[in-house]
Amino acid sequence: MDTIRVGLLGLGVVGCGVVKTIRSQEQKLAERLGKQVEIVKILVRELEKERLVDIDKSLLTTSFDEVLASSVDVIVEVIGGVEPAGEYVTRALCQGCHVVTANKELLAKHGQELTQLANQHAVHLAYEASVAGGIPILSVLRQFLRTNEITSVQGIINGTTNYILTQMEKHLVGYQEVLADAQRLGYAEADPTADVEGYDATYKLFILSQLVFGEAEPWDEIERRGISQLRLSELQFAKELGYRIKLLAQAKKTAAGIRMSVRPTLLPLDHPLAQMDGAFNGVQVTGNIVGELLFTGKGAGEMPTASAVVEDLAYLLTQPFAPQPAWHIRSEKEHREELLPQESTWYLYLEATEPVRDPYRLLQALLEAGIQVKKLRTEYHQHDVLRCGLIVQAFSREVLERLASNLSASYSIVPVLNTAEEVQEDEDQLLEQPGIEYSASTLR
Ligand code: HSE
Repeated sequence: MDTIRVGLLGLGVVGCGVVKTIRSQEQKLAERLGKQVEIVKILVRELEKERLVDIDKSLLTTSFDEVLASSVDVIVEVIGGVEPAGEYVTRALCQGCHVVTANKELLAKHGQELTQLANQHAVHLAYEASVAGGIPILSVLRQFLRTNEITSVQGIINGTTNYILTQMEKHLVGYQEVLADAQRLGYAEADPTADVEGYDATYKLFILSQLVFGEAEPWDEIERRGISQLRLSELQFAKELGYRIKLLAQAKKTAAGIRMSVRPTLLPLDHPLAQMDGAFNGVQVTGNIVGELLFTGKGAGEMPTASAVVEDLAYLLTQPFAPQPAWHIRSEKEHREELLPQESTWYLYLEATEPVRDPYRLLQALLEAGIQVKKLRTEYHQHDVLRCGLIVQAFSREVLERLASNLSASYSIVPVLNTAEEVQEDEDQLLEQPGIEYSASTLR
């Protein structure tokens, strides 16, 4: 039987998963491809390191030249980061090798050039594993949702932050404590910045937007806010108001262009994405023919990511080469200010000490400032701090800032996801001059 010669770059958690999967699915791959898939070289940083998988030491090398010189048909890149991965992928494509990569950062930063390069050399550049781990979302978007007009794609596409938020809610502990635990258990990186500040989700959203809309904002212009500043009390108040806070990535088609953001967002408790717990990912796609679709599954980790890598590898080997559509990058910066007011509903969380500790005075001050309050929940914390969670509409940031300074209050604002039903409800309420749902308690 003929052999497909694979060069593997990286033997970390995902690399080991790829080795295990190619071994365990050997028979199935051979039946499907009519060829044996064989890993002929593995690029590592250290030859002597202990691995999560038994490996023939003669396969290991620290030289990428040696990998390329091993008559490889396909390079599987699971090193991550821009360099040296970018150089290796570029050289592999130029040498006429197909490339399978899980590297979302590389694609968000250099995907435009790399897809062009793959087209020039008539080879596949496959990257299913770069977004949402084991969920085959990119293939579905690429193959089976081409006739629909997709109006939005949104989801929870970072497992680490979803795990942290879930643990905070479940065990009622603060961000720092959960992060430290997650690091100890290996769920979060020693340097968690890429995950907790939303960069990782931003890279993935960029890729999703390219597939869905054929364009995206430059990755570093996408509106981004992470979860590191969220307080436990903000999550708790949101829940009592009927919502969960999730790090939501959104790309939406609007009259003014593609609007993209990654930020903590309030989701109604019964929203399907609000049900995603722990390291699970969920991606919701809205198409004009099919309506709303939801894809869920494990978005990270050894075997889910290895599954996506090996499925991608097998799929590309069954397909003739076809050029990929060009990626376009378009700045939406100029339109952003204009777009912001369209967000009609926000979650405002306030903590106030003197002079305004009376919830009714606080409410009055908000109403006098022209801020429409839909729901309100207050609580005294340790007798001298008034904590207040509000669902508000129609505010200007300047007014809010002035008000917060007058009230000696600290505040944060988080958008509320507007579901179709809520938009209708808001319209009805505005007509009826709504009453405010109000609840208060004096705890501790
Ligand atoms: N750090 C990523 C996450 C890994 O937590 O989702 C998968 O891309």
